[in-house]
Order: sequence, then C-alpha cells, then structure tokens
Amino acid sequence: MDAPGLPHLHGKVALVTGSSRGIGAAIGKALVAAGADLAVHGRQSAGSSVEGAGELVAYARAAGRRAEAFQGDIAVRTEVEALLAKVVETFGRLDVLVLNAARAPFKPTERLLERDLRQLLDVNILGNVFCAQKALPHLAKQGGSIVFLSSLGSRFMNPSYPLGPMKAAMEAFTRQWAEEWGPKGVLVNAVCAGLVKTDAFLTLRQIWPEVATLPDELFVTPEEVADVVTFLTSPAARAIRGQTLVVDRGLSNRVLRGPAS
Ligand SMILES: NC(=O)c1ccc[n+]([C@@H]2O[C@H](COP(=O)([O-])OP(=O)(O)OC[C@H]3O[C@@H](n4cnc5c(N)ncnc54)[C@H](OP(=O)(O)O)[C@@H]3O)[C@@H](O)[C@H]2O)c1
Repeated sequence: MDAPGLPHLHGKVALVTGSSRGIGAAIGKALVAAGADLAVHGRQSAGSSVEGAGELVAYARAAGRRAEAFQGDIAVRTEVEALLAKVVETFGRLDVLVLNAARAPFKPTERLLERDLRQLLDVNILGNVFCAQKALPHLAKQGGSIVFLSSLGSRFMNPSYPLGPMKAAMEAFTRQWAEEWGPKGVLVNAVCAGLVKTDAFLTLRQIWPEVATLPDELFVTPEEVADVVTFLTSPAARAIRGQTLVVDRGLSNRVLRGPAS
C-alpha cells in the first residue's frame, strides 16, 4: 500500500509505447503526475519524434521522476525484447505497460497492398502481443497493469480505416489477457478514444472530410484520454477486468443524429 498522501504510482515504473508524441505523450505526463517513473518510447531514431521523446523525458525529470527515452519498432520481436530488457535494466522493475503505439495506412480494403496488410498486422497486433508477452513476467512480479489504446473503429466502420478491425481484435485480446493474466495479478483493460486532434487526425481528415464539420465539443483531448488510462492503473480500478472504456464525449451515442446536429 502507498503511504497516505502519495500518488498511486509513486515509486512505480511505466512504459508507454509510442509516447514520443500525441496521445502517448499526454499519457506519459498523466502517469508522471500520478507519481510514475517513465520509460518514453518511439519508433523513429531521428527527427521530431526523438525531440518529442526528449521533451517528455525533461518534463518528467523536472517533476522529480526518473525518465529515459527508448527507441524500437514494436513490429520486430527482437527490438521489443531489447526494449523491455533495457527498460528493466534502467529502472529495475516495470509496473505499468500502456500499449499506445499504432501505425496504419488509411485506405479501403480493396486498395491494401500486401505490405499495407503486413504493417497493419505486424504493428497493431503482433507488436502489441510481443510487448505484452515480454512485459508480463515483470508486471506479474509487481501486481501491475496493462492498458491498451483502442478507437471507435473497433465498433463503427469507416471505409478507409482498416486499423478498426485491428483494434477490435485487440479489444478481444484485452478480455483474453485479463482472464489469462488476472490470476498472475496483472490487470488488463482498454480505453477506446473518440476523435483526438493529433498527427493521425490530419490524415483522417483527408480521407474523411466530413469529420471537420463535427462540433468542437465532440473532440476528446489527449489529456482526457490520459486521465482515464491513469485511472485504470489505480487501485480504484481494481475490480475492472478486460473492459474497454469508451472516452468519446458521447460521439458514439449520436450516430443517428447526423454530423452537425
Ligand atoms: N488520434 C485519434 O483520433 C485517436 C482516436 C482513437 C484512438 N487513437 C489511438 O491512440 C493511440 C495514439 O494515437 P495518436 O493519434 O497519438 O498517434 P500518433 O500521433 O500517430 O503517434 C503514434 C506513436 O506511435 C509510435 N509508433 C508508431 N508505429 C510504431 C512502431 N511500429 N513501433 C513503435 N512505435 C511506433 C510513433 O512513434 P514515432 O513518433 O517514432 O513515429 C508515435 O510515438 C493509437 O493507438 C491510436 O490508434 C487515436
């Protein structure tokens, strides 16, 4: 048990995949506010992604936490093995894994090339499974938690969003892992975010121009998503198992109302 008054992740270590920018960076900040030491992670080894990772590390250190940036492609099993080994070597433990990284082409199925399909599966299914498998023994030691980042594409169709079916599969894995790994003391849940204005949204707007007509109040902020992820790592969420919490400001309640009403 934490000492009274300490934030719930004090002395604990969190790895957020894809935290060099976007929602992942906001999750990193929220976990730091909850007391966590932070393993920041991104795929690219140069450019704005590395700068973003460095800024998040500096933010966490300024808040008094330990933080380091790590690089690795989650689609490559050996890179995931190296990532988890380095994180545990650096911090000595792992308590929270947030499966946030995602990468996908925005095209209808009939235009997906073999390399698109392989990227969809390799990053968004295999990559997450590799991370969870490699993190599991460390999380089990601490009674830790896994939170997966899903999207409304898991349940609603957009013709140019093949990431949706990957998210649906991962929500099923979330249930599966909650039951498989609950007895080992590892809590597994997911957050299904609505529309968030990150880099990925710029691409979404190109293939789905109507999204720009939605009122501002239907867009979720990265911080709103991050707060719910943080809640799922807290003792208050201890009885939630294998669930996907929808955080979309009610967007999915309105499917029959038309975009601007
Ligand atoms: N934006 C939305 O509207 C929205 C809505 C619902 C759910 N989500 C979900 O929330 C999560 C974050 O979304 P976002 O919009 O913040 O994404 P984003 O801005 O595109 O950032 C993606 C992050 O994932 C990393 N990444 C991508 N492929 C990777 C790989 N193969 N290996 C390791 N890291 C990889 C990127 O690293 P680099 O910086 O090095 O490229 C980056 O840090 C995703 O799972 C997304 O599906 C987003």
